[in-house]
This record gives sequence, structure tokens and C-alpha cells, in this order.
Amino acid sequence: MLMRNPKSKNLGGTAELTGFVPVLTIHGGEAVFLFAPAKEREDLTMKQALEQIRQTADQLIAAAENERAVDELRVRFLGKKGEVTGILKQMGKLSAEERPVIGALANQVREDIDAHIRTRMKELADEAMAKRLENEVIDVTLPGTQPVQGGIHPFHLVLSELKDIFLGMGFDVVGGPEVELDHYNFEMLNMPKSHPARDTQDTFYITENILLRTQTSPLQIRTMEKHKAPIRIIAPGRVYRSDEVDATHSPIFHQIEGLVVDKGITFSDLKGTLELFIQKLYGPETRVRFRPHHFPYTEPSAEMDMSCFKCGGKGCPLCKGEGWIEILGCGMVHPKVLENCGIDPEEYSGYAFGMGLERIAMMRYGIDDMRLLYENDLRFLKQFN
Ligand code: DAH
Repeated sequence: MLMRNPKSKNLGGTAELTGFVPVLTIHGGEAVFLFAPAKEREDLTMKQALEQIRQTADQLIAAAENERAVDELRVRFLGKKGEVTGILKQMGKLSAEERPVIGALANQVREDIDAHIRTRMKELADEAMAKRLENEVIDVTLPGTQPVQGGIHPFHLVLSELKDIFLGMGFDVVGGPEVELDHYNFEMLNMPKSHPARDTQDTFYITENILLRTQTSPLQIRTMEKHKAPIRIIAPGRVYRSDEVDATHSPIFHQIEGLVVDKGITFSDLKGTLELFIQKLYGPETRVRFRPHHFPYTEPSAEMDMSCFKCGGKGCPLCKGEGWIEILGCGMVHPKVLENCGIDPEEYSGYAFGMGLERIAMMRYGIDDMRLLYENDLRFLKQFN
């Protein structure tokens, strides 16, 4: 007959597994668990209790359905107040011979449960990953959603046409800063501070000597300074002037500059190149004419007109009855400008031209209001693609 030890301790926990509350007691020098309440009181040695814990833990861990449940089991069996720990705390009550044996077994059980928990955790993580991969599988046979397709802006359509034409004639395309030094935008182009030609090119000044460029002509200077001769470039870009917005003006617009410098370049090179360019853009029947003009950085200077592409030169509302449409400014690079850039005007000569891109795009597509080019109205833009 076993007696309850008055100092015995209720270990808790196992009751819900077995239906019994284990109570540790010492019997004949051997640690014994009494389980109560019990129909027939059952005795378990500490060794048996550990085995029982291991078995229960194994079953529960294997059945745990998610990582959280496994974690709860870890606390329940291995935690500070866990079942294995509970047993280890009772070790003091064992005999000296039994202590190392039971101690080793308890440690082994703890390690085994710990190992089982780790494997189960990994299994569950792998399962969860597999499930996710399965759910996230992409069915490549499903019809896709059609993306909204953009189109190229008419302005860029014209620009790439122009680039193609000039690239085909051996020109390079260069770019430069829109925030420019007065030095490049005016001074080096023979337009000192007092020059009246500056009046028509009022702009936005950042400081007295830094401004938003009014023309692409500073690219002539920048290119000559850097590369010397020979040069054959075009330079498209955005330019700024303090203009009010209307059907033909905008404070921000675009130009394309051209510059050729080499030995023996003459006005006939200029004429031939620009005539070919216009005919490629508007058709081989297009004629050009040159009117004398003045630009401070070319000498002689001219403005080029082309025969009206609408009436062929007879005169119509588009060309205001003239038969001609003004298209660009040009001329032979002023010797002073070449000199400014360290190119000897005795050895080299060159020609330059500059035109407004908006104007070209508007004529190319019959657009009668420049504002349409900037407003991004899809009804307008869709007509070009
Ligand atoms: N820069 C001039 C303007 O903005 C256009 C121009 C005229 C450029 C003659 C040139 C040129 O290179 O030679 O009105």
C-alpha cells in the first residue's frame, strides 16, 4: 500500500492527457508517482512518467496543425513551468544512485522533444510554403489584361524624322544645358550686354549671368570650344522666352540648331543641305528661297522660306497669299565667333541654322494652334498613332 507523501507535489499538466494527476512520492527509497484521482490508484516510477511525457509530447507534436500550436507545446513540455522541467525539479528527492540515471533520461527526453519540435516546425513551414506556391501559381494560359498603350507625341514624331534626315547626311546629335550662362547664350555669339538683338530674346534670369537659354545657338559655341573643327552637328532642345501664351507663342518651346565647320565650307553647302532637308520632309517638289537677314553670329545671314506645301506656291490662306512660308534662320558662321572658340577663320569656315520645332510639327500635321501640342488632350494625341 502506497502512502501519499504529505510534501508531495502536484505536477499538473499530465492530468489532461492521462486523466490522472501525478503526485511524486518516495517509496522504499524509490521515487514514485501516485496518480489521483483514480479508480484503481496507479503508480508510476519517475522513469515511467518521463516515458509517458515523451509519448504524449510526440503524439501532440505530430498532430499539431500549425507553428503556433507547436510553440504552445514547447512551452507546455519544455518551458520553465513545463512538464519535463517539473520532473527535473523533483530530482532532489531521488537517491544518489538514481539521480544520474533519471537525470540523464530527463535530459534525453528533453532533447528528443526539442528535436521533434524542430522537425515539426520545419515540416509545417515547408507545408505552408508549398501551399503558398501552389496558390500563387500563375496560369499563363489565361488571357491577359490589355495595357493601355501610349503613343508618340506628334512633336517627337517630327523630331525623330528630322534626326533621321540629318543623321543620314552625316550629322551628330548633341545636347546641352537649358540653364545657361549669359556668356554662351549671348556674349560668345557676338551679342554683348548692350546689344539690341537681346531685346527680342528676353528670358528668365536666375542671376545676372545665368539664364534659361533663349535659343539652341549656345550649343554652337559649346561644341566648337570642345571639339574644334571639323564639326557637323544638330542640337535639338527646349528654349525659353518671356512670351505670353497664344496660338503661335509659348514661353517654353523647342528649336533645332545646326552647325557645320570645316575647310572650304561655302554658302552653297548651306543651300544644298537645307534644300535637301526640306524636300525630304515636305516632298521633292518643295522649293526654297533665301532672303537676306541679320543675325549677329552669322555673316552673311539669311532667312529661308519654303514653297507653301498646301497651295504649291500659288497663294492660299495658310501662306497668307504669299506662296512662301518662313522656315528658319541661317548664315555663314561669323569669323569673330570662330575666333572666340579658338578656330582659325582663315583656315576654316562654316554655316549654321536654327529653326522652331513647333512650327515644323504644326505645318507637317496641319495643326493650327500651338497650345494643342502642350495640353495633352488624348482626343488630339490619338490622331497621330
Ligand atoms: N538663334 C536664332 C533664333 O533663335 C535662330 C538662328 C538663326 C540660328 C541663324 C542660327 C542661325 O544658327 O545661323 O531666332
